[in-house]
This record gives sequence, C-alpha cells and structure tokens, in this order.
Amino acid sequence: MWVALSSTLGSRSSQIVVAEGIDPVSLETAARDIDVIVVVTDSDSEDPAAPLRMVRKIGLQRGAVVIADASDKKTAAEALALGIGGYVVRGSDASRLANAITEVADRGMLYSAPAADVLHDTLEATHAFSPSGDMHAMNAARALASALELKDTYTGGHAERVTSMAMRLARAAMLDGAVPSESLEAAFLLHDVGKIGIPETILTKPGGLTDTETLVLRTHPILGERIVAPLGFPSVVRDVIRYHHERWDGRGYPDGLEGDDIPPAARLFAIADAIDAMTSLRPYRRPMNFDAAIQEVLDHAGVQFDPTLCRLVGEVFLERPAQLA
Ligand SMILES: [Fe+2]
Repeated sequence: MWVALSSTLGSRSSQIVVAEGIDPVSLETAARDIDVIVVVTDSDSEDPAAPLRMVRKIGLQRGAVVIADASDKKTAAEALALGIGGYVVRGSDASRLANAITEVADRGMLYSAPAADVLHDTLEATHAFSPSGDMHAMNAARALASALELKDTYTGGHAERVTSMAMRLARAAMLDGAVPSESLEAAFLLHDVGKIGIPETILTKPGGLTDTETLVLRTHPILGERIVAPLGFPSVVRDVIRYHHERWDGRGYPDGLEGDDIPPAARLFAIADAIDAMTSLRPYRRPMNFDAAIQEVLDHAGVQFDPTLCRLVGEVFLERPAQLA
C-alpha cells in the first residue's frame, strides 16, 4: 500500500514515514515537519478514535486523513467533530488515499464520497451524537459542504461561490449582524447539505427529471434540516436550509410559505442561489451571462423574490441602482 501510495503521489512525496503506533511526545516533536498525517484506526480497539484526539491535541487535525472501517460510524462522527481534514474508508485503493492526501495538503478538507455517505448516515441516524465542547461550527459546516461537493460534481464550487455572493448581499442588507457572522456563513455553506441524501443518479442526471425524481429532489431542504438538527447550529442555519426554495408568492417548497413569513436569511439566499444557478454551466444548458442573470432576478421581484432585497441586487452586483420591472 505505501509503495503504491508513494508512486501515486510521485514527486509530492518527499518523505513518507510509517510508524506503528505513535506516542504523543514524539509526535508533538515531529509535528512541525509533518504536512499530512494518515491515521489508520483500529475498530477492534477499545477507543478507535483516541489517536484522532491526540492529533487534534497537537493541532494537526486539518492536515490529517483518517482511514476507518465503513461500519465505524462513531469514529466518522468524531472525526467530523474534531475537524479532521480527510476521511477515507478502509479498503479504498491507493489512488483514493493519494487523492485525499493531496486535497488535504492543498485545501485542508476533504471527505471522499463513500465517507460522505457514512457521515450522512451517522448524522441522520445518531441523534445521540452531540458535538464536543470545542467543536467549531465552521469546521463542521465546511466538512459537510465539502462532502456534498464530491457527490454533486456538476455544481463544483457552488457552495463557496454562492456563499460569498450571499454574504455580499447580507452585508448590504445589514442582515442580523451579518458582519461578521459565522452563523450566517455556515448557513449559506450548508444550504444544500440535504442533497447528501439524494441519489447521485438524480443529482447528476442530464436533461429533465421525471415527476417522481423531482419530488425526491425536493425533499433535500427537509433532509438537510434533519442532518444538522443534532449539531446544535444557531436557528439561522436551519432557516436557510429548510426555506431556501420558498418563493415570495408562496409557490415554493417545501412549506409554501409566503412573503415575510419566509425567514429573511432564506429570502436573501434564494436570490444569490438563483444567480449562481443561472450563471453556472449545467450538462443540459449553457451558462447565462451575469448581467442577464441579475436582470432575470429583477424581473421576478415581488413574484419569486423579496422585492426590497431585489433593490439591493443592482447596487451590490452592478454598482448602480436596480431597475425593477
Ligand atoms: Fe437547494
């Protein structure tokens, strides 16, 4: 495995050290020379996640990739809570591990697709799971958003892009102390987390969906709300996840809320989400240019979108007052 790994990583692997068991003192001494640490957990041991807590203690968690059994959901949940950078299921081939190592080294966060499913099962089913006191909400938000990104390949970068757009709008709207609001940012990053539970055949299907597939896809706000429920996020996170597909005229889903009944963060996010969707490349259509997408939003002010927030769109993105239809 390690030989295969070093040949897959090629010139990026200047040195791979294989250690059978580690002690905290020598690890701490070596920490500054370590770019990425791969921790192989032993699900037969009494406390498989103990090495992960050690890695966290010396601050190497973002540069760590854990290998664990697919059935070991407790370790998956703990890895997420500790902010461990990557997670690969035992038995994966060397190229998957090499990919995880490269991603963690470059971006600091990756959950491979099977691991994303494990995390989903864990978070959905284990309501007993409660985050440890030092868990950072943004770590969990980024991990979950990154897990989704790997599954829903056509929307590459969507969560980060739409979050930055929505934060610009939120600052202009001075929405609930938007500057700086990590809760709001976590909410935007996680808006589509429920898609982790939607089959890939639906998420990546070219062309239109059947009526049944559409109904399945439209469960993602409710599923997302269930996924984050045990994580103790502030209520704005739930609001954006559950209500980002509601429409001003009440014809949205899942609850058909209307106008001011839709929480403000969700109303604002819906605008950024629509702009990003229109300007992104999809398998079945070409991207629209940015100004045309803004105009499309303005044309739907008071129908699909909150008209007051739409006035900000022109100011924020076109640097001129919006011309509403
Ligand atoms: Fe969505």
